[in-house]
Amino acid sequence: MSERTLILVKPDGVARGLTGQVLTRLEQRGYRIVAMDQRTISAELAGEHYGEHRGKPFFDDLVEFITSGPLVAAVVEGPGVVGAWRTMMGATDPKVAEPGTVRGDFATEMSHNVTHGSDSSESADREIGLFFPELG
Ligand code: RTP
Ligand code: MG
Repeated sequence: MSERTLILVKPDGVARGLTGQVLTRLEQRGYRIVAMDQRTISAELAGEHYGEHRGKPFFDDLVEFITSGPLVAAVVEGPGVVGAWRTMMGATDPKVAEPGTVRGDFATEMSHNVTHGSDSSESADREIGLFFPELG
């Protein structure tokens, strides 16, 4: 069965007009967008989405950033998409992300790294349930 992942174009990416370029990379690879919308999320949803980071020093700034403006959320489907999108995003810190990756091509700061992708199939199921409960 084909995999699904949750991807976000974070508020910095939307504000900079990078949504199309991020989504193009997925589409040209052959992945399919199953559901997608643009929205500004609540601190409650942000805290659940990033629940694994609650209590860490960067948690409050992360929630403030991810709720600071509209983001684009999408469920994307295709063979190996969870791992493939992690590779295509590049390292969490754009300063060390490889050229050719989204973060390596479009970002310089860890706190503003343009995109999210689920880190496992289990995380994908959980995150898709949070953002698109109608797909659950
Ligand atoms: P994401 O969840 O947003 O796709 O990013 P990721 O898996 O590559 O990284 P993760 O460890 O899940 O961290 C989530 C976001 O928190 C910020 N962060 N800051 N200052 C720090 O040490 C630190 N560590 C993580 C980043 O913005 C990261 O995308
Ligand atoms: Mg993560």
